[in-house]
Amino acid sequence: MEIYQVVVAISAFFTATALLPEYIHVCNARDPELPKCINNSINHLRPRFQSGIKDLEVPPLEPLKLNEIKLRRGPSAVALDCNITNFKVWGPSSFVITDLKVNLDKNIFVFKTIIPHLYFKGNYNLNMNILLINVRGRGPIEGNCTNYGSEVVMKGRKILINNEEHLKFDKIRLRLSIGKSKIVLGNLPGGDSILREVTDSLVNDNSDLFINEIKPTLERGLAEKFTEIANKITLRFTYKELFA
Ligand SMILES: *[C@@H]1O[C@H](CO)[C@@H](O)[C@H](O)[C@H]1NC(C)=O
Ligand SMILES: *[C@@H]1O[C@H](CO)[C@@H](O)[C@H](O)[C@H]1NC(C)=O
Ligand SMILES: *[C@@H]1O[C@H](CO)[C@@H](O)[C@H](O)[C@H]1NC(C)=O
Repeated sequence: MEIYQVVVAISAFFTATALLPEYIHVCNARDPELPKCINNSINHLRPRFQSGIKDLEVPPLEPLKLNEIKLRRGPSAVALDCNITNFKVWGPSSFVITDLKVNLDKNIFVFKTIIPHLYFKGNYNLNMNILLINVRGRGPIEGNCTNYGSEVVMKGRKILINNEEHLKFDKIRLRLSIGKSKIVLGNLPGGDSILREVTDSLVNDNSDLFINEIKPTLERGLAEKFTEIANKITLRFTYKELFA
């Protein structure tokens, strides 16, 4: 190590210990393995995502509350009218970063991640026509998604607050790729009858319809929440503190 680097390392250490809480790990902007360092910092912070970080006013990531979802399809072989309310998702904080490209000069971070498991539930209100059968009902909806991939693009810019540079992110762009998913609508009409069996299998056979409608709302919800969390952290600390 050259003396310069030692000084930088020591001053980074003191900056970090003096001003940053223990759960924020600093990365050196000149670190040749910067993506790895950022990954480690995020892993270190991860246990706090779920319930939020009070000191920094970072809101809890779970459960993630989504806006009402309105599905409408038809007229076709399957005409569907379904509203989902009180929709909550657990699991997004378990994401694993599989690839990260950083361009610090342009403040661009491109993440590829896998979300091993998402669990969601809400309430549905359904009116569906499949072939000649009309299915109406309301009740709980729940489902699991496993191994969803996601690509996340974070683009920021440096802004001045009190004459200090901070990194502020624009709205994060997030795309989910489909993994495996399973959805169950509880309380479908028909009781124990054959009608019930028919509606069950019709809904299950068409669960892609539901997932395809839920996905954009989920992407938007996740993108908004991640933008909020990232900015709570990067606006609280100066650029120099975070990337010593
Ligand atoms: C990030 O860290 C996780 C957990 O240690 C690891 O599984 C993953 O491979 C790492 N990703 C990269 C891009 O280094
Ligand atoms: C869904 O909500 C819309 C209004 O936002 C309403 O017109 C429609 O009847 C609702 N669908 C069901 C199945 O309740
Ligand atoms: C989702 O997963 C949970 C726990 O792994 C399980 O209890 C539940 O029955 C699953 N629901 C569906 C619809 O697969």
